Amino acid sequence: MTHETRFETIRVTVDEGIAWVALNRPDKRNAMSPTLNSEMKQALDDLEINDDAGVIVLTGEGEAFSAGMDLKEYFRETEGESAIVQARFRRAATDWMWRRLMHYPKPTIAMVNGWCFGGAFTPLVACDLAIAANEATFGLSEINWGIIPAGNVTRAVAQVMNHRDSLYYIMTGEPFDGRKAAEMGLVNRSVPLADLRAATEQLARTLLGKNPTVLRQAKSAFKYVESLDWDTAEAMLGQMAAATAAQDPERGRRKGMAQFLDEKSFRPGLEGYRRDA
Ligand code: COA
Repeated sequence: MTHETRFETIRVTVDEGIAWVALNRPDKRNAMSPTLNSEMKQALDDLEINDDAGVIVLTGEGEAFSAGMDLKEYFRETEGESAIVQARFRRAATDWMWRRLMHYPKPTIAMVNGWCFGGAFTPLVACDLAIAANEATFGLSEINWGIIPAGNVTRAVAQVMNHRDSLYYIMTGEPFDGRKAAEMGLVNRSVPLADLRAATEQLARTLLGKNPTVLRQAKSAFKYVESLDWDTAEAMLGQMAAATAAQDPERGRRKGMAQFLDEKSFRPGLEGYRRDA
């Protein structure tokens, strides 16, 4: 089933389990405006409880993934506002760009189809996985127009890129392509633009084949424990493992055990258990 929800600045299409969420201001290279930020929060809230959407793909219409924060609507037009009002605009942006995405209960894939600058790095990194077009152009362009990469861009970069690469691109603003993004670990891989949608869809279908309760807990567990010490991490993982088994309507662990140990019908090292059995 395909259905589309209409927004002004984004396009959401749910098709056979995949929610394609496209930033949709191609004339403005999908720059993120206050309207877009509030629509993205709404879309993510809606999709969270939409059973037709198993995986979220974040991408952009036209030539851009996103040219970052909207210099006119997000920066210049809010300059005269009070500190409190400015903080509200910033919160509305970061609410979806990382807070909502970081522990989103469904798998998220960033599909970087073109220009990806500045603020766009935050949702890019907050998505669980990312595939870029070889031809995409990335850049931490903030230095080029006199600001530092805020909006948690610097934190996002530090999460996935190494120390030297992070500082090099933060300090030079030099653009780089999808291949370089993959080499540095900013995205999982890059493919020719012509293959981007198919490669993303294939990855999304792989995720749709997994137990959704376990996927939700597994990605969240990773994101929680990566900043914890080993003792706390072990305790946290133990609790999350128990909660996963308790919450899983599919009883995946039990099925997997029975199919491997009793029926000898699959090898978990190489494939998934039969979910319909
Ligand atoms: N904020 C607001 N508007 C933006 C924008 C942004 N971040 N990025 C692009 N636009 C707008 C341009 O103002 C222009 O609008 P107009 O047609 O009304 O004049 C339109 O999008 C097209 O931009 P243009 O520069 O002509 O497109 P291009 O294809 O030649 O170049 C980019 C694309 C992305 C390289 C270029 O637009 C750019 O450098 N954008 C800023 C990127 C950036 O530094 N972002 C960091 C923000 S945190």
